[in-house]
Amino acid sequence: MTDAIVAKGLKVHFQTAAGLVRAVDGVDLTVAQGAFHGIVGESGCGKTTLARALIGLQSATEGQVQILGRDRSDWARSDRKGFARAVQFIFQDPLGSMSRRQTVGQTLEEPLQIHSVGDAKARRARVAELLDLVALPATVLDRLPRSLSGGQRQRVSIARALALSPQVLICDEPLSALDVSVRAQIVNLFARLQAQLGLTIVIVAHDLAIVREVCSAVTVMYLGRVAEEGVAKALFADPAHPYSQALLSAVPSPDPRIEATRPRILLAGDPPSPRNPPPGCRFSTRCPVVEPRCRETEPALRAVQHGGAAACHLADANIHAMI
Ligand SMILES: Nc1ncnc2c1ncn2[C@@H]1O[C@H](COP(=O)(O)OP(=O)(O)OP(=O)(O)O)[C@@H](O)[C@H]1O
Ligand SMILES: [Mg+2]
Repeated sequence: MTDAIVAKGLKVHFQTAAGLVRAVDGVDLTVAQGAFHGIVGESGCGKTTLARALIGLQSATEGQVQILGRDRSDWARSDRKGFARAVQFIFQDPLGSMSRRQTVGQTLEEPLQIHSVGDAKARRARVAELLDLVALPATVLDRLPRSLSGGQRQRVSIARALALSPQVLICDEPLSALDVSVRAQIVNLFARLQAQLGLTIVIVAHDLAIVREVCSAVTVMYLGRVAEEGVAKALFADPAHPYSQALLSAVPSPDPRIEATRPRILLAGDPPSPRNPPPGCRFSTRCPVVEPRCRETEPALRAVQHGGAAACHLADANIHAMI
């Protein structure tokens, strides 16, 4: 089966007054069809820029992106509407994707009108179906976004994104604007929709506990590059990169016995600036097991024990024993 997304050598650099910002700096990424793919990493590591570049909301400085087997530039040239139907983006702030003056009903019907789907009656039926999909009552139809709760708003923005039956949904921190208590509900909604509709979902997330719960695949980013990638369960059970180990060590375990004894690796300081990444391995300035060669040569992604890949010179060795 064709992969949903394949990015090769993707770079997004920003020229700023203070110098060149290498927000995304050579990312290879493959998202399989039907995957629930998490992208994680600290603030500023380039997750949003990568997600936006994948669908062309942000132009790339270098590299290629294929979506559903077709070059993104080819979609843009010859089938913009087809692309908008196939791939949808969900923003962190649900209000950002809807007009404050439109009712929920109008918000959901708008993409159907733009893409001339059915007549008025068929569109109303589709809107009712969409509400059902995201478990919202018909009573919200006449309400304005600001009168809804955060969770309801995010459900509306998900329903709107689903209106044209996309194959791929890219979500940038779709949970971070929500109360902790409603996050689980929205995560469960994503998981159900993914299974029910056979969607491919890419989710950018800060919250590793959530990624661990629902994602089938995960990419860990550090300073504009991929530090580690793999099947989520396998990577979470046996992270090979010291950075992933540190990130994961900060996630509480639901099992109190593991929680009591789990190792905690504290990362010193903030990541270096993407204006001036360190030579060699980008993580070398904070790595607890750094060696001289790490400050000289940048490690490429290489296959590791859990079946995925990590960009670490020491990934083949038993790092667990060293920390
Ligand atoms: N338009 C822009 N112009 C200049 N620099 C930018 C621009 N957009 C992003 N950056 C910089 O690129 C880097 C990556 O930003 P990005 O927003 O992609 O990170 P992120 O991983 O999504 O962070 P967060 O978790 O805080 O959302 C940051 O240093 C950011 O300041
Ligand atoms: Mg972001």
